Amino acid sequence: MNTVSHVPAGDESAPVTNVNEFRLLGHQVVDLLADYLEHVDQARLFPQITPAELRKLFDEPLPQDGTDPERILLELQTKLLPYCTHVNHPGYMGLITPSPTPIGIVADFIASAINQNPFSYLVGPSATEMERRTLQWLARLVGFGPSAGGNLTSGGTMANLIGIKLGRDFASRNSAQHDGTDGSLRAYVSEERQVSIDKAIDVVGIGRANLRIIPTDDEFRIRMDALETAVAEDRKKGFRPAILIAGAGTTNTGSVDPLVELSAFARREGLWVHVDAAYGGGVLLSKRREGLLKGLELADSVTIDPHKWFYAPVDAGAVIVRNEKSLTDSFGIVPPYLTSDPDQYQFYVHGLEQSRRFRSLKVWMAFKRYGAAEIGRWIDRNIEQAERLYELSSRDADIEPVHKPSMSAICLRFHSGDADLHQKVVAEIQRQGKFWISTTVLKGRPAIRINPVNFRTTLRHMDELFGTLKEVYRKLRT
Ligand SMILES: Cc1ncc(COP(=O)(O)O)c(C=O)c1O
Repeated sequence: MNTVSHVPAGDESAPVTNVNEFRLLGHQVVDLLADYLEHVDQARLFPQITPAELRKLFDEPLPQDGTDPERILLELQTKLLPYCTHVNHPGYMGLITPSPTPIGIVADFIASAINQNPFSYLVGPSATEMERRTLQWLARLVGFGPSAGGNLTSGGTMANLIGIKLGRDFASRNSAQHDGTDGSLRAYVSEERQVSIDKAIDVVGIGRANLRIIPTDDEFRIRMDALETAVAEDRKKGFRPAILIAGAGTTNTGSVDPLVELSAFARREGLWVHVDAAYGGGVLLSKRREGLLKGLELADSVTIDPHKWFYAPVDAGAVIVRNEKSLTDSFGIVPPYLTSDPDQYQFYVHGLEQSRRFRSLKVWMAFKRYGAAEIGRWIDRNIEQAERLYELSSRDADIEPVHKPSMSAICLRFHSGDADLHQKVVAEIQRQGKFWISTTVLKGRPAIRINPVNFRTTLRHMDELFGTLKEVYRKLRT
């Protein structure tokens, strides 16, 4: 960062150009956050405060005059930090938000300071190339060749939207971009899909009534026989089967649809294959589950989110495509005010979003700092933790596993007890403040969902969590 020292500091008396204030504040913030991370395991994981109390804390008119930065930092320490959900806490095993890597935190700080806007090469030449390299790393992990491309997105929702739009444009030979859809296109996905799929199908104009929801087998994977029947039925009725969406790491159970069979079927039927590996993509770094995502490389587009199991701070999702040209075909409108040298890669010509955060920096820096092998070891530990819960519950009098964990997500169920009891147990555990887990419903039955995506969690935490689950269940069931 020495290179900025020759930049004129501007009016030293104005806070916004006072570099010294920035320097001091930056040091204070780093110290504050280092202390926070050092002691985060002792924090109450989820705050005991009501939304109304929080509203009151922040209830003030728009400040007209500035305040000393120290006072603002103090306010953060009293109003913000104590009432966070501490995803850095080793007991956080809930909705898929990882403990972020320290280098990723620093990367976001740097990204904000230099404020590159890599939608255009012109507002971030080196950022554009770093972004492309990072996408190529992800594409190689997926198993795609040199024609692959992609976009870093705000998350899996946007990545799934892009993948599904590519599928719609493929099926309509790009005419839907101009003429819209006529209600004849159909898409197929399992009942274990994430909700962003339904939203994307709506947004691209296919319509949710044209999303066929296919049942799953005992391991929550799409049933091939039911899929084949649905496609055949639709053809008979005059619909045009267009997109197959497969799950490679479903949100509930981490299940992986049979990717090789699905792709072979899709090829025969002329369907676009989009795989949602938003969470499960992390397994590509795992030794414990090497080969689990075999067939991913046969997809046309893949969602894989660094801000899930690559432990990047939000936001960093990604859509990776087998053939970069599909992105250009789908999005390549070039407004006259943005034209430039064809040698300069312009993300806005190959993607949906225009202005966006320089997201690759935190992914690139994490791969450089820790290496893919080390990140893979964290992932393997999270898998081992889910396996521990599986073993403990397999021989327990109160709790049973709903499935064998293929990833780090595991669902458990009390032998007796309705949805209400499952929710009460989880609420009580959240109230105690040492663990954060959630509930879900699988094939109409309640379950507890535990999902470590956290490099601070250990097997000891799983043993303790299991003991807590039993204790709270026994207390509340009567
Ligand atoms: C399988 C899967 N796909 C998509 C998403 C949506 O991702 P995001 O929250 O980053 O938009 C999630 C979120 O957990 C997910 O688990």
